[in-house]
Amino acid sequence: MIQTRNLLLLSLAAFVWFFECGQAQAADAAAGKELAEGCAGCHGADGVSQTPLTPSLAGEPDDFIQWQLVFFRGGTRKNEVMGPIAEALDNQQIRNLGAYYASLTPPRPPSALATDPLMQTGANLAIEHRCKSCHGEDFAGGGPAARLAGQREDVLLKALRDFKSGARVGTGVASMADVTFELGDADMQALAHYMATQP
Ligand code: HEC
Ligand code: HEC
Repeated sequence: MIQTRNLLLLSLAAFVWFFECGQAQAADAAAGKELAEGCAGCHGADGVSQTPLTPSLAGEPDDFIQWQLVFFRGGTRKNEVMGPIAEALDNQQIRNLGAYYASLTPPRPPSALATDPLMQTGANLAIEHRCKSCHGEDFAGGGPAARLAGQREDVLLKALRDFKSGARVGTGVASMADVTFELGDADMQALAHYMATQP
C-alpha cells in the first residue's frame, strides 16, 4: 500500500513537471468550449452523456481529463473511437478541454431508493476498499483520480471490469488494478450502482 502511494506520488510529480515544462500558454476554457462542440454528439451538450457506455465529462477534475486524453493519444489507454480523436489534439487543446470540462456542472444523478439492497452493499464496499482515499470525500475526484459521483452506471461498471481484466491500464501505477484485483463482478456491479447515484 505504502509502495503504491509512493509510486503514485512519483508519477504525479513527473506529470506535473511534464505539463509545467510544456506550458506555453494558460489554459483557455472558452477555446475548450469551442473545441468541445465536436465532442458533444457523444459526450452530451453540457458534458452530460446520454449515450450508452460513453462517460459524462462535466465536473471531472481538469487533470483527469488531460491525463486520459494523453493516454488515448499515446495508446496507453486503448479505445478505437477515442484513439484517433486524441491523436488530433495538441497539448494546448488538451489543456483547454480540461479547463472547460472541469468548469461544467456535474451530472445530476438518478435518485436511488433507500430500500435498494445494492446501495448498502456498494456503500460498504466503498468503505472497505477505501475508494474515498483517492476519489475524494464525496467521490468528486481530484487530480488524476476521476469523479465517480453521478457518472453513468454502465461507464463505471465497464471501467472497473476493464481495470480488472487489464484492458485499461491508465496511469501505469497499479492503483485501480490493485483495487479491482480484490473485487468480484457482483461487487463491481454494486459499486457502479452506488457511485452512479451519489450526488
Ligand atoms: C464518436 C463518439 C465520441 C466522440 C466524438 C468523442 N468521444 Fe470521448 N469517449 C467516447 C467513448 C465511447 C469513451 C469511453 C471509452 C472507453 O470505454 O474506454 C470516451 C472516453 C473519453 C474520455 C475518458 C473519460 C472517462 O471518464 O474515462 C475523455 C476524457 C474523452 N472521451 C474526451 C473526449 C473529447 C475531449 C472529445 C472531443 C475532442 C471526445 N471525447 C469525442 C466517445 C466519443
Ligand atoms: C490508490 C488510489 C485509488 C483508490 C483506492 C481507488 N481509485 Fe479508482 N481511480 C484512481 C485513479 C488514479 C484513476 C484514474 C485511472 C487512470 O488513470 O486511468 C481511477 C479511476 C477509476 C475509475 C474510472 C473512472 C472513469 O471515468 O474513467 C473508476 C470507475 C474507479 N476508479 C472506481 C473506484 C472504486 C469503486 C474504488 C473503490 C472500490 C476506487 N476507484 C479506489 C485511483 C484510485
